[in-house]
Amino acid sequence: MSSGHGRVLGMSYLVASVAGVVFFVLSVALLGYWPKRVLDEQTRAMGPEYVLELTPSERRGRAVYSREGCAYCHTQQIRYLASDRARFGAPTLAWETRLDYPHLWGTRRIGPDLSREGGTRSDDWHYTHLFSPRAVVPQSVMPAYERLFDDAPDRPRQQARDLVAYLNTLGRARELAGPEGEARAEAGCQCPDDELANMAFGGELNAHPARTRRTHDTPPLLPAGDLARGRQLFAAHCATCHGPTGGGDGPGATGLLPAPMNLAEHQYAPARVADVLWNGVAGTAMPAWRDHSPDDRAALVSAVLALESTRLEPSLPDNLMELGQRAFRANCVQCHGERGDGSGSAAAELPIAPTSFVRQRPTLSAALRALRGGIPGTPMAPWTTRLSDAELVAAAQYVRTLYGAPGAESR
Ligand code: HEC
Ligand code: HEC
Ligand code: HEC
Repeated sequence: MSSGHGRVLGMSYLVASVAGVVFFVLSVALLGYWPKRVLDEQTRAMGPEYVLELTPSERRGRAVYSREGCAYCHTQQIRYLASDRARFGAPTLAWETRLDYPHLWGTRRIGPDLSREGGTRSDDWHYTHLFSPRAVVPQSVMPAYERLFDDAPDRPRQQARDLVAYLNTLGRARELAGPEGEARAEAGCQCPDDELANMAFGGELNAHPARTRRTHDTPPLLPAGDLARGRQLFAAHCATCHGPTGGGDGPGATGLLPAPMNLAEHQYAPARVADVLWNGVAGTAMPAWRDHSPDDRAALVSAVLALESTRLEPSLPDNLMELGQRAFRANCVQCHGERGDGSGSAAAELPIAPTSFVRQRPTLSAALRALRGGIPGTPMAPWTTRLSDAELVAAAQYVRTLYGAPGAESR
């Protein structure tokens, strides 16, 4: 009897060990191998054939991102939540992070998700923000990364350049895949009836409210915004760059190229300011502010218009006006357009849109400054070698006469 018990006991060790091994193998297969296979297959079916690899600089930037702990505060994964989709865009698909190893998805969302950061903000904005976050976003709790710079935001070291190069790759793969890529992903998903899975398609790919555009799809402007509220908002969001009185001299301005516009030296059509707030100024650090309510945007428009420092401008004799018109026709129309509405034949090719003088009027001194020194960081070059001093003054005055011309408000 006792020997029989002993045998059974001896067998049970064997059974237990065999069962242990079997369960271990099963769990590896079911929890590790099988899901990986399904994910690999799905990734292959939904992703484009070739995913762009990172350049050496972008890879180094990725290492800096990892080393500096950016992932402790920033995620790189847009969830299937209405709030995430509204703020950032289409939920992240598995194939988008195919080459992301080890991954940097992060878990804490102290700062905004960065999955679609690429192409959203200009490089000079990133440098200024990394150097001193509170110089552009007053309430920010993000640490400053001055050590990646040579004492100034416009003097980034290699590491800062690499980091920004990396930030610019976030979301790039899916944008490059284009509509064909979206169609392929949708077909590969094989989930026509899965409502949740389908949330990844169809919406706006990048819905970042600060992303600049060059379209003119601004919603109609509400009449007369609340000036007091507008001034509050301006102090909270705009003064960092444009300065408290709109002089273009805020703490964030030093590293930006082109520099923030001097708003006090301009007269603006309300629709122009509304357009800038909705679209931003593409090619510059000026973000769009689409996340603000229509009322707040109208209030901001009022605040910007109220910044203008009115002064008496000299008027020029007629013969000088003719000289100005001739100089303008001969030199400026290819960019600024025949009517000065910014619709010249070269305008679409330029990285920064030429000014529409119909919708904004610089003071004479601001216009002259632009003509003499150009606007650094934009295609507007100095004209001192091409035009005489009289022509410069005449052209500067001429463009000021174009403001509010009827029939050209659309631009
Ligand atoms: C302590 C948390 C924290 C850390 C660490 C951190 N950030 Fe941030 N980050 C934030 C917060 C909060 C914001 C939102 C306010 C702002 O724009 O500054 C932000 C904003 C940003 C934005 C702007 C996103 C947008 O388009 O609105 C970028 C880009 C960014 N961080 C990059 C980085 C990088 C790169 C690192 C690492 C070098 C980093 N952050 C480290 C908290 C953090
Ligand atoms: C990160 C810095 C920054 C912030 C913040 C910022 N701006 Fe700007 N802004 C710029 C830059 C840079 C330009 C473009 C200058 C150029 O086109 O040469 C600009 C251009 C503009 C223009 C167009 C001016 C023109 O004459 O073409 C308006 C209007 C304007 N900003 C208003 C605002 C308002 C209102 C806010 C706040 C809601 C704001 N900006 C916040 C940097 C900023
Ligand atoms: C190559 C294209 C190009 C040509 C040619 C050109 N401009 Fe410009 N101009 C621009 C751009 C781009 C801007 C800057 C827009 C900005 O900063 O956002 C600008 C800005 C200006 C401004 C400043 C506007 C403001 O609101 O402060 C003035 C004034 C101006 N141009 C006058 C002229 C005159 C006069 C001529 C001809 C002698 C001329 N430009 C030729 C592209 C051009």
